[in-house]
Amino acid sequence: MPGDPGLTDILFTPVALGAISLANRIVMSPMTRDRAGPGDVPTPAMVEYYRQRAGAGLIVTEGTQPNPAGKGYWRTPGIHSDAQVEGWARVAEAVHAEGGKIVVQLMHCGRVVVSANRGFEAEVLAPSALPCPDNVPGPDGVPAACATPRAMTADDIAATVADYAQAARNARVAGLDGVELHCASGYLINQFLNSASNAREDEYGGSAENRARYPAMVLAAMAEAIGGDRVGFRFSPGNPYNGMDVSDPAATFVPVLRAVEGLGLAYAHVLDMQLADLDTLAMVRGAWSGPIVVNNMLDAAKGAALVEAGRAEAVSFARAFIANPDLVARIRAGAPLAKPNYTLLYTGEEKGYTDYPAWAG
Ligand SMILES: Cc1cc2nc3c(=O)[nH]c(=O)nc-3n(C[C@H](O)[C@H](O)[C@H](O)COP(=O)(O)O)c2cc1C
Repeated sequence: MPGDPGLTDILFTPVALGAISLANRIVMSPMTRDRAGPGDVPTPAMVEYYRQRAGAGLIVTEGTQPNPAGKGYWRTPGIHSDAQVEGWARVAEAVHAEGGKIVVQLMHCGRVVVSANRGFEAEVLAPSALPCPDNVPGPDGVPAACATPRAMTADDIAATVADYAQAARNARVAGLDGVELHCASGYLINQFLNSASNAREDEYGGSAENRARYPAMVLAAMAEAIGGDRVGFRFSPGNPYNGMDVSDPAATFVPVLRAVEGLGLAYAHVLDMQLADLDTLAMVRGAWSGPIVVNNMLDAAKGAALVEAGRAEAVSFARAFIANPDLVARIRAGAPLAKPNYTLLYTGEEKGYTDYPAWAG
């Protein structure tokens, strides 16, 4: 990752993603870390974790549920209760005090739910009553079968859209700079988009345009709630995770990009699967005129080359931020990167979370 610092100079120029001004083009990609406290409230350890990483031009938080039904994993935070909003306010305050910017990723898991992870009773809702074929870690970390969802009614759809919009308002009340809608990796929005999880016969199912309707409605509602220029969205064309069909990613995703083109959204965060038969970044550029943040298995030199070539406006890193809280400073200095301890990713503890030191120089 480090290499010749001169090659990465372009990453240290400012950029605007909608209304959000970044001091550099290095974004921290969202990472679920399972450290929320009782009531799914952000904790002081989370405040410290994000504060340590505020050198990023923009932090995208871990996936955060917009309502109780959106929770699928153990100890993920929410942004629907007063206590949760208060917790996020402390995170926003700490990141801003360090000169950083931060948006919350809104992740509704839909059918990707192990009920024991929740700690409360709530229905499992999805576009159709088709269970996720993949197992998901339970509270003990052991993978368990996902619950069978109930197909969302028109009322559920309207209520969930309203919950997303309220979560976006809550983010702004907390002082966060905006929101990112998680449309990737087989969660609720991706479940609507994908024919393997969406067998609906109404206006939300069938053609790719119909399957794009619900995702576009959610983005429009959030844009109306807080301004489109504070709303980003993340997707991963060709990603089979959580039972997605990957036979024709362009046909699935281009209609969404077209549907949201007029909303003036802040950015598209593209988890580029580097598909053999599709240039994903070119597909996005061709269908959508806003800024692109590119992600997936990149290093600083590769990210800088993509920005230099005009294929993206910024680059995001996930795993590199785990053990390198000062990743941006290390890239700038060409310093070596520390390796994370992957056994401590989801333990709920501060060990392996806030105890990775900054580079000693
Ligand atoms: C521990 C961990 C948790 C993750 N959680 C999320 C998440 O909550 N939301 C999301 O969109 N992606 C999530 N991802 C995917 C990353 O954001 C990123 O797309 C992926 O790790 C590839 O980027 P990298 O090669 O820079 O690590 C997670 C990845 C890791 C390693």
